[in-house]
Amino acid sequence: MSFSIRPIQASDKDEWLALWTGPDSYLEFYESIDKVTDEATNTTFDRFLDDAEPVWAAVAVNDEGKLIGFATYLTHRNTWKVENTLYLNDLFVHPKVRLGGVGRALIEYVYKRADELGCGKTYWNTQFENHRAQLLYTKVGKKSGFLLYIRP
Ligand SMILES: CC(C)(COP(=O)(O)OP(=O)(O)OC[C@H]1O[C@@H](n2cnc3c(N)ncnc32)[C@H](O)[C@@H]1OP(=O)(O)O)[C@@H](O)C(=O)NCCC(=O)NCCS
Repeated sequence: MSFSIRPIQASDKDEWLALWTGPDSYLEFYESIDKVTDEATNTTFDRFLDDAEPVWAAVAVNDEGKLIGFATYLTHRNTWKVENTLYLNDLFVHPKVRLGGVGRALIEYVYKRADELGCGKTYWNTQFENHRAQLLYTKVGKKSGFLLYIRP
C-alpha cells in the first residue's frame, strides 16, 4: 500500500471526523465517543487550521486520496529549556491498514515537524495495556521512566 503524510486541510473535515469519532474510530478505540463534545471536536479541528494556535494535525492519505490515519500534536513551554516542547496528543491508523508502516511514518513526520518548530523534546503517553502501540514505540522512541498522574 502506498500512502503519503501531509498537513490536514479544511476539506479533510468529514473524513477526519469519521476517523476521529465514527465506527472503528480513534474515540471508539478509547471508548470515549460520549466524553468528547461536538464543541470540543469542532474547536480542535478549527485550531488545526488557525496559524495562531500551537496545535496541528497531520494526515496519512492512501493512493486514492482517502484519509487512513492521523497524528495531532501541540507545542508548549518547558521550564527546563528555552525551546518549546512538542507533545504528540493523538495517533490513529484505521484498523484495515495497520501494520503497513503508517503509524511509524506519522511519528517520523511529527519528529520532522518538531525539528522545524525548533522543539527540544518530543514526548507522548500511552496506556500500559496498549501493547500494540508499544511495539511501534519501542522502535521509534524510548521509555521516559516517568509515570503520569492526573487530578482525580
Ligand atoms: C498504534 C498504531 C497507531 C500503530 O499503527 P500502524 O500503522 O499499525 O503501525 P506501523 O505499521 O507503522 O508500525 C508497527 C510497528 O510495530 C510493530 N508491530 C506493531 N504491531 C505488531 C504486532 N501485533 N506484532 C508484531 N509487530 C507489531 C511492527 O513490526 C512495526 O515495526 P516496523 O516499523 O519496524 O515494521 C495503530 O495500531 C492504532 O491506530 N491503534 C489504535 C489507536 C492507538 O492505540 N493509538 C495510539 C495511542 S497512544
